[in-house]
Amino acid sequence: MTSVVIVGGQWGDEGKAKITDLLSLKADYIVRYQGGANAGHTVSIAEGLYKFHLIPSGILSKGKTCIIGPGTVIEPQFLITEIENLQKQGICLNALRISGLAHVTMPWNIDVDKATDTVGSTGKGIGPTYTDKAKRIGFQLQDLMSKECLESKLKKVLTKHNQDLSRIPGINKEYKLEEVLETHLALGNQLRPYLSDTINELYEARKKGINILYEGAQGTLLDITFGTYPFVTSSTPVAGGACIGSGVGPTSIDYSLGVFKAFNTRVGEGPFPTEISSDQEVATMLRQDGKQWAEFGTTTGRMRRVGWFDTVLAKYAVRVNSFSGIALTKIDTLDSFDEISVCVAYHNRETGETFDNIPQANAYFLSQCDPIYQTIPGWKSNTHGLKSWDELPVQAKAYINMLSTILEVPVAIVSTGPGREDSIICKEIF
Ligand code: IMP
Repeated sequence: MTSVVIVGGQWGDEGKAKITDLLSLKADYIVRYQGGANAGHTVSIAEGLYKFHLIPSGILSKGKTCIIGPGTVIEPQFLITEIENLQKQGICLNALRISGLAHVTMPWNIDVDKATDTVGSTGKGIGPTYTDKAKRIGFQLQDLMSKECLESKLKKVLTKHNQDLSRIPGINKEYKLEEVLETHLALGNQLRPYLSDTINELYEARKKGINILYEGAQGTLLDITFGTYPFVTSSTPVAGGACIGSGVGPTSIDYSLGVFKAFNTRVGEGPFPTEISSDQEVATMLRQDGKQWAEFGTTTGRMRRVGWFDTVLAKYAVRVNSFSGIALTKIDTLDSFDEISVCVAYHNRETGETFDNIPQANAYFLSQCDPIYQTIPGWKSNTHGLKSWDELPVQAKAYINMLSTILEVPVAIVSTGPGREDSIICKEIF
């Protein structure tokens, strides 16, 4: 039995879904532990292309149980649409389980997110939903299962929500209790078949020695505590979040896998020391403009900011997640580069200091840092679709080994393309 947590080592969009899909083949349970519809993954397998927001992409592997855990936030209609779309593509959702402890994104949460966002949010109401959770005025999915419960909670908080909305310029809405009650009871009814005691189910699964995969969304640098605050999401994507977002203790995780893209990307606002201006040729090449897997967000369609691999931030991610191994994705994006740069240290403009380790990913501090690069020759040959380490060009191996040495973590998987089979397995994790 092994329990593995998969965590993004950067700002999300590292290709976690492809790695999750690959590892799902050997896991029996796949658990999503935080975030909500802000996440977006596309998974490509022989049967087709599938888009995910909340449902673990492991649902594609037959016979797996997929859990949307207590630490997530759910916009019910969005989830129902995701379920229906997958069903239309022939995917069976019988193995989907949702925790009643997950919080519900209510319509006013989305209004507030869209009208007051200052960090380039996805507009899915994530921040305001977690805010309501912390303020203890939120709704758990379980609340949508009982008319009495939902009605009494709405009576307590809806007036206050309407008052708050009326103070926000640009929002001219007032939610009526009867309407919210009716629509949300109906939505709850549609999700009822999936509601489950996920905590007990995971407990029993562990007792039986079943392999479990915890799937983090977003990434370490978007974590509410450890990320580039305030330019972060409102949940806990780091490895420790798997425990608090699933209802298991820390002794139940055996392996922490950090997924890193072979370069860096970011969507939304916030510091990005190795960012390359979007109009430069190198940026266009990293973004893969015009290609099917170009760097545009799955959820929002926004163009991703791009830059070279940043080992200073990656080392920080290694520490806060205790990574046991690394999955390096999109190595094939670098195939045509003459030279590849890697940020190995920072120079702080304010203090004049140089360092290769940072104590925290503080946004102001990072905005004062210029990257110091080490540049190595590119391999200028195809790695797309390669399946064994030996097939990799010498310079590609050197690049991967360089990152692994700096981060002091072994590389477990190298991803050479979007397909499940486009993978080099250096270490069997399950
Ligand atoms: P929110 O999670 O929608 O509140 O957005 C907060 C920040 O996290 C914004 O900069 C978003 O662009 C970013 N973000 C949220 N989800 C993802 C994701 O799945 N991938 C990459 N960035 C994300």
